[in-house]
Amino acid sequence: MIVCSCNVLSDHDIRNAVAVQTPRTAGQVYGCLGCSARCGRCVQTIRKIMDDAQSACASTCRGAHDGGS
Ligand code: FES
Repeated sequence: MIVCSCNVLSDHDIRNAVAVQTPRTAGQVYGCLGCSARCGRCVQTIRKIMDDAQSACASTCRGAHDGGS
C-alpha cells in the first residue's frame, strides 16, 4: 500500500527502512529512502508504522530473553 504519494513510498518500504537502518524519527525515514518530506500528510502514518515495527521488535526481543534464561 502506498503510504506517501509524494515520494511513492509503500508501507513495505517504511518497514524495511525501520528494520535495516533504524531511523528514530519520521524525517530520518525519508532520508533512509533517499527523499524528503514534501506535503507532510504521511508523517502520522509513517510514525504509526515505526511504532508498530518497534513494538513488534521489542516483543520479539522480550520473548527471546524470557525463553533464554
Ligand atoms: S504524502 Fe508523503 S510527503 Fe506528501
